[in-house]
Amino acid sequence: MLVEGVLLAFVIRYRRGKRARAAEGPQIHGAVRLEIGWTVLPVVILAAIGSFVFYKLPGISNAPAASAADQSSITIEGRQFYWMFHYPNGAVSFGTMVAPANEVVHEAIYSPDNDVSHSWWVPNLGGQVDTIPGRTNETWFQAPPGTYIARCAELCGVQHALMTAHVRVVPRSEYEQFIAQRKADQRGVTLGKEEFDYVCTSCHRLNETYIGPALGGNPLLKDRKGIEDILRRGVGKMPAVASDWTEAQIDALVNYTKTLKKTSGG
Ligand code: CUA
Repeated sequence: MLVEGVLLAFVIRYRRGKRARAAEGPQIHGAVRLEIGWTVLPVVILAAIGSFVFYKLPGISNAPAASAADQSSITIEGRQFYWMFHYPNGAVSFGTMVAPANEVVHEAIYSPDNDVSHSWWVPNLGGQVDTIPGRTNETWFQAPPGTYIARCAELCGVQHALMTAHVRVVPRSEYEQFIAQRKADQRGVTLGKEEFDYVCTSCHRLNETYIGPALGGNPLLKDRKGIEDILRRGVGKMPAVASDWTEAQIDALVNYTKTLKKTSGG
């Protein structure tokens, strides 16, 4: 408003009118105070903004100080097309990350070398952090109990739009119970079902062709070795979705897929 207003006012106020086209305006030379003013004022403004930014910067990039005892660290792996969470005791979860409430939670975020770039984004807990194959980015949060929605914020392929997750922030005792249970039941169908629901069903259905072929009745669902080969190496358009899973994780999946009936579920 200010700039356009002044511009219009000057265009009208100083228009040529009836003066000759070649007539020159008054020749003014030098306005020392004005020139010093329009030099010094921007310098002062920019210096003030710059100082403020550098004053605030350390507090923005560093996690608040906390004793080692009440911190935890969770590794977040982005893959086509799911999120896998690794906990300090070696347990894993898919699709839902469980984290302790009201304490600093460090997040190490990456994609494996054979995957593509994704972006971990929990809008209510902070900004987007890219997952870049071959490098680890770090961030942190400290949140009250609740469930927070996470999204992949980097176009990463055909099922990018489905690459959602939840962060379930719970009291520390509940968090510790969760990761202990997961560790104790590394080959269980609870994990297997989670793997199937978050990883396989990104692209497959039991009864119909989706992104990939229907899985119902496929003998591979009961074939530990056959499933492992495909999951670790990929086939055709299917990426090597489980290239870095542990043997226990593959066992968990097969323990679950063995229970699937040809037409059960979606
Ligand atoms: Cu992963 Cu978009």
